[in-house]
Amino acid sequence: MSINRREFMILSAAVAAGCAANQPVHLQPTSFDAGPASDYNGDGVYTQFRDQGFFIIRRNGKLTALSSICTHRGCKVTELPDTSYHCKCHGSNYDPSGKVTHGPAIHDLPELPTSIDANGRLIIGATAA
Ligand code: FES
Repeated sequence: MSINRREFMILSAAVAAGCAANQPVHLQPTSFDAGPASDYNGDGVYTQFRDQGFFIIRRNGKLTALSSICTHRGCKVTELPDTSYHCKCHGSNYDPSGKVTHGPAIHDLPELPTSIDANGRLIIGATAA
């Protein structure tokens, strides 16, 4: 099932709300088309989908997607020059892999599943259990 950006943002907000309340979030698998995978040829963090709820990361040629939604109360985190992440709402920090390094957040930023479809487009999955 594919969804548009607005629907993805709503789902991301629902995940964040569940995390903030320390409640499990149950969503059906969905996906978001992030465009041609060839747009992400260089290693680094791609921030253009931060407001939609995720960063695209390419490290050593491998593409991943990391949630940009702070697991404390759902603010959007910001990438720092050293590729770690900071939440300005209450000061949580995460390392480049999304692991909490400073609270109040206690949960790591979740990695979202990624795949490349038959047309070479990067698909970001949004699932939560
Ligand atoms: S919402 Fe990010 S530290 Fe509170």
